[in-house]
Amino acid sequence: MQHTVHAMLNTSEQLVVAAAAAAAPSVFNTQPWSFVFADGAFEVRADPDRASMPTASAARDVRLSCGAAVFNARVALARLGHGSEVSVLPDAADPLLVARVALTGGKPDPALDGLYRWVGSRRTNRYPFRPEAIPAGVLARLHDAARREGATLRLLDAEPEYQRMLTSIRRATWTEDEAVRDDRDARLSSRTDTPAIPAGNLGPVPRRELPDDPPVRDMAEGLALPGRASASFEPHPDLAVLETADDDPAAWITAGQGLQRLLLEATGHGIAASFANQPLEDAELRPEVSDGAAHYGCPQMVLRMGYATTQPPASPRRPLNEVVGSARG
Ligand SMILES: Cc1cc2nc3c(=O)[nH]c(=O)nc-3n(C[C@H](O)[C@H](O)[C@H](O)COP(=O)(O)O)c2cc1C
Repeated sequence: MQHTVHAMLNTSEQLVVAAAAAAAPSVFNTQPWSFVFADGAFEVRADPDRASMPTASAARDVRLSCGAAVFNARVALARLGHGSEVSVLPDAADPLLVARVALTGGKPDPALDGLYRWVGSRRTNRYPFRPEAIPAGVLARLHDAARREGATLRLLDAEPEYQRMLTSIRRATWTEDEAVRDDRDARLSSRTDTPAIPAGNLGPVPRRELPDDPPVRDMAEGLALPGRASASFEPHPDLAVLETADDDPAAWITAGQGLQRLLLEATGHGIAASFANQPLEDAELRPEVSDGAAHYGCPQMVLRMGYATTQPPASPRRPLNEVVGSARG
């Protein structure tokens, strides 16, 4: 039986849930969501107007980001002692509704409760990592975290696959559409507005030292930002692809939940991550990312993982009063 969320969560508890959801990663830090406590549930709604420039992957990225927010809301509810149930209902009458997280009235999953402590310290880390590899046992935990949400974390541990990914990342960087690059530069440049990703979160400019050109995405490639240093990056980080069985709005929400679960688990094991999604943003390159794999899935995120040398600052979030809407009638 579901309970009325207002009856069970007081105002400060609602803020805990909304703040956790808002701490989720989002494409370009666009935070393309709004939250509503209504009809016995915490609703996550998409705000496509906040998405970055419409590209082949923009709709996916909005849903992926919202999926990560859904997962954080479940974790916060578990922390507050509530079991929850997610329904992802493609609703023709309400196409921006991404998911409803309803209280079940039952006990929370202790595994979710345990992840709450990492919600605030997880970061996208674009700084160099230490050169050591992640132990197999820890990678297995990350794989399991994605699997529990219905996604697959495919580690690129065979050299030919790894090299193929490096080639795709480089090709995507060279062939990026000019309008997409201009949109990105405008969002990152402090000249126009508050930058979506502040310089301290961009990390240093990667030194391109062939033949070991690092598989690091410089979000501000070619953009001169005052005071931004350059650095050598680890030449061979662990790379992985997060995949789903399907490639539709429900699958993107699954991917977002799987992503956030594995990122929180990773944070708990001292593992940092950044993303190299360039090939996924290119409609031609996207299918290449997974089609050579033994178990072909639909690629949703490309992750670079390792041990941090620097903890970046928290990146800014919109004030919660802008994000949390009033209950619908
Ligand atoms: C769907 C999605 C795609 C993303 N793509 C990239 C990417 O290609 N490169 C990157 O450095 N960060 C990427 N990010 C990370 C966001 O830029 C980051 O989450 C945001 O700036 C907020 O910072 P935080 O994760 O440290 O809280 C992506 C995040 C999401 C959810």
